[in-house]
Amino acid sequence: MSLLRDDALSTAFDHAARTYDRLTAANPGYHAHLRRSARRLGLPAGGAGLRLLDLGCGTGASTAALLRVAPRAEIVAADASRGMLDQAEAKPWPPNVTFVHAPAEGLREAGVDGPFDAVLAAYLLRNVSDPDAVLTSVRTLLAPGGRLAVHEYTLSGRPLDRVVWSAVCRGVVLPAGRALGDGDLYRHLLRSVVDFDTADACAERVRRAGFTYVRVLPMPGWQTGIVHTVLAAAPVGRARLAHSGAESVR
Ligand SMILES: C[S@@+](CC[C@H](N)C(=O)[O-])C[C@H]1O[C@@H](n2cnc3c(N)ncnc32)[C@H](O)[C@@H]1O
Repeated sequence: MSLLRDDALSTAFDHAARTYDRLTAANPGYHAHLRRSARRLGLPAGGAGLRLLDLGCGTGASTAALLRVAPRAEIVAADASRGMLDQAEAKPWPPNVTFVHAPAEGLREAGVDGPFDAVLAAYLLRNVSDPDAVLTSVRTLLAPGGRLAVHEYTLSGRPLDRVVWSAVCRGVVLPAGRALGDGDLYRHLLRSVVDFDTADACAERVRRAGFTYVRVLPMPGWQTGIVHTVLAAAPVGRARLAHSGAESVR
């Protein structure tokens, strides 16, 4: 099958939105790993005085992860799928969290502008038509020294990890997705990961988009070699956040 993109992908997420949380709850480590990537941003003082962007927030799982590590930050969460956002907005959130219906490619047009002190893009980048353009745009939304965490299914390049990924998808995720009427979306999930960057290639892509301090950090569990955080920083002019510590946070 060809990959789903843009409106076709949003329509597929709209349809899957109501059952999305049930599927991710069955994925061991899903929420803990999002929190781990959020922690890796190394945000000080519970995020006091900081503005954070959750790009591709979906039903709010990654937003909740950001909120957990930075409860005092202002958090803007954006997504292209109205259905996913409806699920997110139906949950209880404190007033420092706001949701915006906007594609990553059209944030400013939707009124989302920087500077942000950090951006979390969880399971977003392999879904967009032009990841380089999205990364460049994210860099321009970040304050100098602002941090980026790309939390993504990025395979290690080892054949075994690709085999595990295909087995988990074909044996568990696809049958469940098909039963829920979302076969196309979960076939897209399988294919988009296999076709997307390895973790190192993703880091190189982030570097090419002008980020510095780029690091690849692994996840524990069955996702080892399959999910990584690519951590980076916008070039430092007058940095608002010091870099020490951010890269070593596990
Ligand atoms: C796999 S879900 C992940 C959601 C959430 N970040 C999480 O960790 O659970 C990917 C999300 O990215 C959104 N998305 C895909 N392409 C997008 C784009 N071009 N702009 C904004 N959101 C997009 C989808 O609508 C979907 O909600």
